[in-house]
Amino acid sequence: MVIPSAPGMRKHVQNLAVIGAQWGDEGKGKIVDLLCESYDVVARYQGGHNAGHTVKFADQHFALRLIPSGILHPDKLCLLGNGMVIDPDALLDEIGKLRALGVHVEDNLKISDSAHCILPYHKALDLAREETAGKAKIGTTGRGIGPAYETKVSRYGIRIADLLDAVVLRDKIEFACAEKNPVLKTVYGKEGFDPQTLIEAYLRYGEILADRITNGTVLVNQLIREGKKVMFEGAQGTLLDVDHGTYPYVTSSNTVVGGVCTGLGVAPKHIHEVIGVVKAYTTRVGGGSFPTELENEHGEHLRKRGNEFGTVTGRPRRTGWLDLPIVRTSAMLNGLDSIALTKIDVLDDFDEIPVCTAYKVRGENWNTYPSFAVEHQEYQPQYRTMKGWKTSTVGITNFDKLPQAAKDYIRFIEDETEAKVSIVSTGPRREETILR
Ligand code: IMP
Repeated sequence: MVIPSAPGMRKHVQNLAVIGAQWGDEGKGKIVDLLCESYDVVARYQGGHNAGHTVKFADQHFALRLIPSGILHPDKLCLLGNGMVIDPDALLDEIGKLRALGVHVEDNLKISDSAHCILPYHKALDLAREETAGKAKIGTTGRGIGPAYETKVSRYGIRIADLLDAVVLRDKIEFACAEKNPVLKTVYGKEGFDPQTLIEAYLRYGEILADRITNGTVLVNQLIREGKKVMFEGAQGTLLDVDHGTYPYVTSSNTVVGGVCTGLGVAPKHIHEVIGVVKAYTTRVGGGSFPTELENEHGEHLRKRGNEFGTVTGRPRRTGWLDLPIVRTSAMLNGLDSIALTKIDVLDDFDEIPVCTAYKVRGENWNTYPSFAVEHQEYQPQYRTMKGWKTSTVGITNFDKLPQAAKDYIRFIEDETEAKVSIVSTGPRREETILR
């Protein structure tokens, strides 16, 4: 497929990155599913089963957590990159569920041997910390993501390749348990883990997954050299990036486009276009500041109409008006070529739609997100109020058929972020889409 990159211009794109431009849950699953027809490979570069991409298959909604949405297209190769943290049990569960639905999951799914494993002690630590953190609670998904990345960075993590080597795996698990068990028991009053049980379980995972385990970096670079088209699928969103997001209320990986380079071993010159997925309003799950949050009937309306409940945890998402400083920050960090704007139809019923164009923080104006820690109440969002369209946009497939006020809303976003809106999603189904 050809992705429009500027008005009147169409550009052939070999490799494309699809990135969440807010705090996650922007609707990346649908966009990846929609665009992936024209790609040969769909590769994930960070995160784990904290992600949840809802896609529709055979009239059923299915939440993909680890596996790229490309898996629903049997001719695409899906790759779990080295930058990911993988819970083998969750992966096997997902493979099983997909197969039960009739989805082909054979040699079209490969796993990088350098990706790191999540072990049960990571999950236990994640949950125990959250339980005792009080006001400092991050609101994690409780899947062990943070502790698994910590182990990776402290250089004694268990990599996927280690599942195939009984000697290495034994040493590493025994070493990890000797450290984690006392922390779990003494600091948090929790049970520890029996190393032998873990060794047996993880060797078994290795046996089951062996045929999928490969040098993901060599594989993806070989495919690029052969001229295959690769889509890099982001998980979570830019403002959850561990370096550039709203630290410490972030996930533990690099969600920004730079993560593609380290999380797959792909050089920057092989990323030819970046699409940022932006929801027409804002949502966030977990703790942290949210300048445009609506704790009133408007927020409730967005939550209900937009079905804003977590795919992974079922938690109600926090909701608010569109926050342009966030989208601008994303456009800058990811070098967005264009925006895929999702869920515009969720705004159909409002008389007026305020859009945050900047904030005042401690007397200073900010049109990007400040990187220093700011308490929620210190943000004074500056709004421009747009006219609502008060008519259904559900299922519209042609930009010209949108009500004028919706077109104005979209053009305002383009003007303010300097990124063209190339895709507008008007409903959950693939065909409910405007391609400009
Ligand atoms: P963790 O990734 O489970 O450590 O959670 C850290 C923060 O990222 C929490 O605020 C989570 O709610 C948030 N988070 C993680 N994954 C997602 C996602 O896929 N969508 C939205 N928020 C997420």
